[in-house]
Formats: sequence, C-alpha cells, structure tokens
Amino acid sequence: MTLHGTQNGAHPQKSPPPESGTAGESSGPSHRAPQDGANPLAPMQRLAQVGIALSAQRDLDTLLALIVEEACNFTGADGGTLYLLGNDQLHFSISINRSLGIKTGGPYGNDPNFPPLPLNPTFAAAFAAIHHTTVHIPDLDAPSEFDFSGPRRFEAQTGYHAVSMLATPMLDHKGEPLGVLQLLNAVDPATGKPGPFPLEARMLGEAMASLAGVSIRNVRLIRASEALFEALLEVMATALDARSRSTHGHVRRVADLTLALAEAIDASTAPPFDTVHFDKERLRELKIAGLLHDIGKIVSPPHIMDKATKLETIFDRAELIRTRYLAIEAQTEARHLCARLNGQAAGEEALAAEIAALHEELDFVLACNHPGEWLDDAAFDRLKAIAATTYVVAGIERPRLTPDELENLSIRKGSLTEAERKLMQSHIEVTQRMLAKIPFPRHLAGAPIFAGNHHEALDGSGYPQGLTGSQLPLQSRMLAVIDLLDALTDPDRPYRKQMPLEEAFGILQLEVDKGRLDGDVVRLLREEKIFERYREQWRGGETSSAL
Ligand SMILES: [Fe+2]
Ligand SMILES: [Fe+2]
Repeated sequence: MTLHGTQNGAHPQKSPPPESGTAGESSGPSHRAPQDGANPLAPMQRLAQVGIALSAQRDLDTLLALIVEEACNFTGADGGTLYLLGNDQLHFSISINRSLGIKTGGPYGNDPNFPPLPLNPTFAAAFAAIHHTTVHIPDLDAPSEFDFSGPRRFEAQTGYHAVSMLATPMLDHKGEPLGVLQLLNAVDPATGKPGPFPLEARMLGEAMASLAGVSIRNVRLIRASEALFEALLEVMATALDARSRSTHGHVRRVADLTLALAEAIDASTAPPFDTVHFDKERLRELKIAGLLHDIGKIVSPPHIMDKATKLETIFDRAELIRTRYLAIEAQTEARHLCARLNGQAAGEEALAAEIAALHEELDFVLACNHPGEWLDDAAFDRLKAIAATTYVVAGIERPRLTPDELENLSIRKGSLTEAERKLMQSHIEVTQRMLAKIPFPRHLAGAPIFAGNHHEALDGSGYPQGLTGSQLPLQSRMLAVIDLLDALTDPDRPYRKQMPLEEAFGILQLEVDKGRLDGDVVRLLREEKIFERYREQWRGGETSSAL
C-alpha cells in the first residue's frame, strides 16, 4: 500500500514531535549569571534566541513555564513566580525554585492552588502591575513599605530564605499589564550566594518581561481566533443538523469517528500504519475536515435530501394520484349509471370489474412509488402504458400519470431522479467552493482538501474530479470510508431501515474489492471495533465536536 499521495504535503508521518518548552540549546537550569561569558553580546544573542523560542510557542502553559525558566537563566535568579492578571487580581500561574527543586503550576502540575493576590500596592508584585514599573528589593530583611508576608510564610514552611526580589510587569502592546514576573534571590556566580539583582540583571529581566508580554498576547490572540473559528464550525454543524433528517448528527459523527480512526492509526505499530503519526495539529485538521465535509449541503433542497419515496416532493404526489383515481372511479360509476338510464347498462359485474381494475392499477402505481425495490422492465413498460391512458375532467383530456410522475415512478432503484441525484452530488462542489473562501492557516491547509475529496474513489470512479489513489491522501480515504459507514448505519436515513453493522461492513468490503475504498482503513476500522466503541459513547450522549 502506498502511504499516501498528497496534494498539500500534509501526509502524516510517525516521527517524534518537536520538543516543546525549550528555548534552544541552553534553556536548562544553567544558573548562569548575566556577568558570565567573555562575549559582551552573548546576553543579547541569547535574548534574541529566547524571543524566537517564545514567539514559536503556542501552548500558553508551556510558554509561561518557559518565560520563568529563561528569566531565571538571564538574571541568575534562584526562583521565579509568574502571575497573570484577571479580574483585578494576580493569579498564580507558574513557580520554580531551583535550590529547593520545586516546579509547580502549568505543565509541571502540582498546582498549589494559591489564592490570587489582590491588586493591593502593599504587595510588590501588585505595585509593579498597578504602576507599570519594575520593583527591585535588594534586601528583603531591611525595613520596607511592602508586605512580605507571602515570602515569609514560604520561608516558614520550607526553610528557604528570600534575600532579594525583582517584580517586573509584563505589558501588552498598549502598555496594559498582563501579569507580573517575580524573581527571587539573584545568585552571585562568584560566591554562589544570593544578593541584590545587579543592574544588568534587572535590565535583562525587564527585556524578558517585555518579550513575555508580547508572546502571551500572541498566544491569547491565536487562541481567541481559534475559538472564534471553532464557534463558526459549531454554527455550521448546527445549521446542517437542523436542515434535514439525513444530515442530522451526520457531520459530528463523521468528525468524531474519523478522529477515533486517526488515533487508532497513530497507535498502530503494524504496516502500513506503523509510519503514520497524527499529532495534535493533524488531528485538529482532520476533525475540521470532518465537520466541514458536507457543508455544501447547506444549499441542497431539504425535500430532495429527505425524499423518502419516488413521488415525494415539497408535497406528496402520491396523494394527488390517489385523489385522481377516486375521480376516475366516480366518473366510471357515473358513466355506468348514465348507460343504465339509457337502457344500455353493461351490468353490475362489468362495473365491478372496471372498478377492481382501477384499484389494482392504483395499487401497482403506489407499489412502484416505493424506492426499496428494483423496478423491472415489465413494471417500467406498464407505467408507460398507464401514463399513455387518459381520463376527462371538465371536458379536458388528461393523462393518468403526468410526464413528471412517470419520470419519478420510473426510477429503477432509490428515490431520486437523475437530475435530483446530480443536484445532491453537487453538494461536494459547493463544499469545495465554500471552503476555498476560508483562509486556512498553513497547519490546517489539508482540511479543505480532505473534506473536498470525500466522494472520490481510489479507482477514479468517484466525484467530482475522478481522482485516483495516488492523488488521495490518507485523510481523504479515511473520510470516504467513515462517511459511507455512517450513511449506511444512520437510523434517520429516508426510506431505509438502519442497517446492521455487519451488513454495512459487507458493503464497505464490496467497495474495497471493487477498488474504490482503502482496504487497510476498512480493516483497521473493523478490527479495532472503532465504530462499536463510538456507538456506545454516542448512546451515552458523550459525543462531542470539541476540537
Ligand atoms: Fe458528502
Ligand atoms: Fe457526508
């Protein structure tokens, strides 16, 4: 099996994910004081490296931990705490203390659940946030207007002696505080003893806080734009849910199931999936593709999407035909009565036979209306003959079946005419056109491709482009399989009972044998019982479209 032609290079490969939370090669606890090193530009070079590392980090917790670690590296601080400002309080986020080997909050876990610090200027960190200025306390034991009860409590619990403090506000692009970086005990590299923060360390601390402010704001902006996009996806999924029976729940199930399949592929250690890796971003891209794959159905007419019988349209034409046959029956009886009045009666039996023939013909027509059975040539010819028969109302001769009714009743299998089928298939072109309007970021660029290909087949017999296997990425193949499986097992599909899972897998296998679906994907789906496990969750109301 070829893994897997792509159109965008989004082919998922099993490879270790990039290291996160590090800022290049020296982000560890080097404890290097800023005075160290022969190269006077070294701190600036290092700061530039850290700036790049911070701007590349998209996980807020990891970013905050990185800020504290690097701030300690730059200033030679032994400990650091990062607070984020919210609701006029400083909320503890990350804390490290190198001498004590303590790391808490964020990615480190062990959240100590400290109460937030009120924006009270008697606390040095709060003062820094309120006045947008750095507070340096070279000697915490000296008399001060600041309240050091927090560090003193920490001392009482751990025996740690806080000697000096540097509290620097992290400001956003408008100069508004986002939080405070508070550092403790600048360690003199010569003596190894804690003391005041030297001027250079204070300047580097401020530079770090400035970089941190920009990075935090960037991550929050990215998060906000992702949340907005996810909300829009939810809106679209909700619209499709409400639009028709046949789309209700479909896109959410397809998205969730495809994701479950991707996780199984990621975990697979056997060929051909042993080299395939779905990281967090790839999973998100795939889930978005699942949620958007049928977005084009937003313009499909609901009476065609939910067409349960051949004659069903905005109204049910079967009722029209029933009424017409009642009128023909009444006319037949009237004709017999007139003939009897004129002494030309053909007799009761002749009337009864004619009425019975009408009933039988109506039953036949209505049986043809059912989409579940294959319409054979004899039935097809008889429908044509009936349509050629006429009746007269108000002096106007009319066909028993109109050309439109004949066309619909003559559908060989299913409920859609050729024109309706083409209209339904066009949802994929609408999907592609709609998704082409969305400026997906590079890491999600595969989503519109996977979504737009879900009706393609490996042998080129799919639509709309007739792509072949080498042109179809694994994600498109997965979506194609899941889309068909959900359609077959959907309890709300028009005119068809819910298909048992084994029968549905039988149809999937037939599609594999014909060369249309990916056999490895179908096999894994079946062997790992992904659908069964999902269905159990679904019954328990646990499905989610959360990204
Ligand atoms: Fe579709
Ligand atoms: Fe679909």
